[in-house]
Amino acid sequence: MKHLLLIAAGIALLALAAAPGCKPAPADDEDTSRPAAFGYQQSVHDALLEEGRSAYLQYCVGCHGDTGDGNGPAAKFLHPPPRNFITAHYKFSSARAGRLPTDADLKRTITQGLRGSAMPAFRLLSTRTVEALVTYLKSLSPRWKEEDASMPVPLVDDPYRREADKSEAIARGEALYHGLAICWSCHPAYVPEAKINEYVVAFGNPAREGFRPNLHLAEAKPNSEGIVLYPPDFLRDFVRAGTSLEDLYRSVAAGITSTAMPTWYDSIEIPGANPGDPPRASAGDLWAIAYYVQDLLKKRPPLLKPNTFNLRAYAQGIYLHGPPPKPTQATTPESEQPTNFEPDF
Ligand code: HEC
Ligand code: HEC
Repeated sequence: MKHLLLIAAGIALLALAAAPGCKPAPADDEDTSRPAAFGYQQSVHDALLEEGRSAYLQYCVGCHGDTGDGNGPAAKFLHPPPRNFITAHYKFSSARAGRLPTDADLKRTITQGLRGSAMPAFRLLSTRTVEALVTYLKSLSPRWKEEDASMPVPLVDDPYRREADKSEAIARGEALYHGLAICWSCHPAYVPEAKINEYVVAFGNPAREGFRPNLHLAEAKPNSEGIVLYPPDFLRDFVRAGTSLEDLYRSVAAGITSTAMPTWYDSIEIPGANPGDPPRASAGDLWAIAYYVQDLLKKRPPLLKPNTFNLRAYAQGIYLHGPPPKPTQATTPESEQPTNFEPDF
């Protein structure tokens, strides 16, 4: 009898220890998304996985589906459709196009969302829950076990960082965009044909004979799953993975998985025409492209006109017994009233 009691107490203690709330938080540099061989680490992984599963069922299942195949009940109304976590063709990542994203990439997507698509920003989830969701997403595809962990493409120094005036960076970006990287084979061109050829020749290539029709519009492209995607027109559209220079550097340097957009980091090094000449292009130029694209994005029309009335800040009460007495003078001068301008354009 005594033995039985001891065993029961032992089991109760073990069960307590296994309760998710009792687990010590994983260290920052610990990769908890891969099952560890045994012992303590294994149970940390299991607890995170379980938390991830329940958060997934609460927040993600409606779009991404029960099994994670991207076929939730809302999916048929969405374009682009929600990501299929089983095939795991994640688009926005710091790793080379075609490779799996890093944990940091997944965390960024979950907390910041993908603007211009249905993917919301889950800013209020705790770091622990986001970590748990990442662990769960990674359990949905065998690719995470089969493939080595991805490395982000290197973040080279921004050669223009210290310059107060970025116009040189933007001009260099315009030349690279049109004359070397030929981004306009999918995205729109933003300068006339003659100017494009000027840039092409300056990079040492023969002038183009002809240009695609609708050169100044985006060219829709099917991705590897047959879904037609629209390369953004930077003067008009949203970009999903963020508008900061670093976000744009990442999108251009790493490329976008399963789309026609390649990893530019691997093809931007162009040596000079003769030995001893400076290179015609190098990795630092990825920053020039980022400055140029960001400059185009800044020129987009605001989503709402400036000084439109902000309903949320100035809610009108519905009074059953007449409104309260009016203040005798306006408390907020018009110039200080909030506008609906987007803070991060
Ligand atoms: C309202 C629908 C909706 C909900 C809810 C939703 N997503 Fe998404 N999610 C999408 C769509 C749509 C995309 C694809 C966007 C695209 O391809 O540009 C997406 C893409 C993603 C991606 C892929 C990003 C990439 O690089 O390809 C991840 C990761 C993701 N969602 C995670 C989550 C998680 C985790 C949750 C729950 C916490 C969630 N989503 C909830 C609609 C949703
Ligand atoms: C072969 C076609 C192709 C070429 C060339 C191309 N892109 Fe793209 N790009 C795409 C497609 C398709 C998308 C949209 C993917 C999606 O979100 O659905 C895209 C998306 C982007 C995005 C937005 C990422 C986001 O956060 O939504 C940026 C920025 C971008 N491209 C910049 C460039 C630049 C700069 C170049 C030239 C250096 C370039 N692209 C060349 C096809 C291309």
